[in-house]
Amino acid sequence: MASSIEECNKSKSRLKLDSLESLKEISSQFFEMVPVRRMRWKDDDAAMMVACPDLQVELLNATVRHPVCHDFPPALSYRRYFMKLLIQKLEAQDADVADEVYEAYTDLLSRPEDEDETLCFKSYALPSGEYVSLQESVHLVSQGTTGLSTWQAAQHLAEWILENPQVVNNRTVTELGCGLGFTGIIVCKCCQVQSYTFTDCHSQVLYLLSNNINQNLGTDKHTSEFKDSSNDREKRMLRKIRRQLSQSSNGDNSGYSDNNADLDSITKLADSDQICTCEDEDLTIEPVDLNLNPEKWGTDSSSLLASYRHDSRVRLCHLDWEWVKEKQLEELQADVILAADVVYDLSIIPALVLVLKALLYGGANSNRKPRAFIASTIRNEDSRDAFLIAMASEGLNYSVLENPKQQRYFYDRSVPIEILEFYAT
Ligand SMILES: C[S@@+](CC[C@H](N)C(=O)[O-])C[C@H]1O[C@@H](n2cnc3c(N)ncnc32)[C@H](O)[C@@H]1O
Repeated sequence: MASSIEECNKSKSRLKLDSLESLKEISSQFFEMVPVRRMRWKDDDAAMMVACPDLQVELLNATVRHPVCHDFPPALSYRRYFMKLLIQKLEAQDADVADEVYEAYTDLLSRPEDEDETLCFKSYALPSGEYVSLQESVHLVSQGTTGLSTWQAAQHLAEWILENPQVVNNRTVTELGCGLGFTGIIVCKCCQVQSYTFTDCHSQVLYLLSNNINQNLGTDKHTSEFKDSSNDREKRMLRKIRRQLSQSSNGDNSGYSDNNADLDSITKLADSDQICTCEDEDLTIEPVDLNLNPEKWGTDSSSLLASYRHDSRVRLCHLDWEWVKEKQLEELQADVILAADVVYDLSIIPALVLVLKALLYGGANSNRKPRAFIASTIRNEDSRDAFLIAMASEGLNYSVLENPKQQRYFYDRSVPIEILEFYAT
């Protein structure tokens, strides 16, 4: 007995010294909804919890009982998988599993199944310890679009900017194909941009993006806009997105239970030339406009650009590379252009390159010397080469940037990601 108390005390002091880091790592992976079988546990983590059930309770407090989990819970079935894995790990080592651990698991099992779990919250820790919570689809490719979840390159780019804030500080930043806003929201929270314009072409992406911006850059930080939304139009929109996602997922939520699911999606994406951008029939049922909540957003006369009332630096813009007019690009006055995971579809590259050309040469008559920072996951060398050749033929040069030093987020790093800086010569 004495030795087990001693063990426990030793474990506690180890927890204080280095295991706080371990708990933080497990907790971050839980909130990012890293597939449970792919979660990184240090060998010592489980061993320490075996020695000291108190530490198991600490882990509950850092995950399923954490306030972020209350406000922005990961999908119910994900939380169940996570608790099951924890119990399995402890039992496999003949541990004295704390009653609270079993209770937390039983509580999750007794909850009514959500209607569907096609949309869920993923939360990402900032250097300050605060979380950014985004509502996302659990599937990388849903309903033919790629914009309803956060991609690795967006996380990689955010990690790089957090280490190199000078590239965006005091700049007018425009992000192309921003998806649900991961990179931009982190940049707006952690850097001193002059302005940040989020752009994408897809109505449902823009809708969820506007909610994610309100949620993280607005005043309603600790209540879920999505749950509490009273506006009928918004409820209808959310229902429609969920319906479409559940049709495309066909009830399969393996995106977080099966470690191969993400890789499968990516492989399919890389192999497919059918990945749709804005033209997918199902996705354009609703005309793309910025029909945003006027209390939160002010729109310009074209209704394509909206300014966020709570933070005048933030703008949201419907911008389709295939249909955009040069004047619209000029009006953005971009000094810095960001984009993540936008070079995956050969057919869209020419339009994307023309947009980049217009933005990068746009500053030619002013003192601005715009720069573009483009992060890409290199799944397919052909797309990368086609993009570089097309950029070079427009006189756009590049240099390859160093990878971020710190691995802050837990995305799949098995496929290389690179950031290129482009400029007009
Ligand atoms: C793979 S997702 C990446 C999203 C986000 N940047 C990220 O990394 O999480 C590609 C994004 O490009 C957008 N996109 C695709 N074709 C586009 C086009 N023609 N014009 C503007 N955006 C487009 C999609 O809507 C989607 O949000």
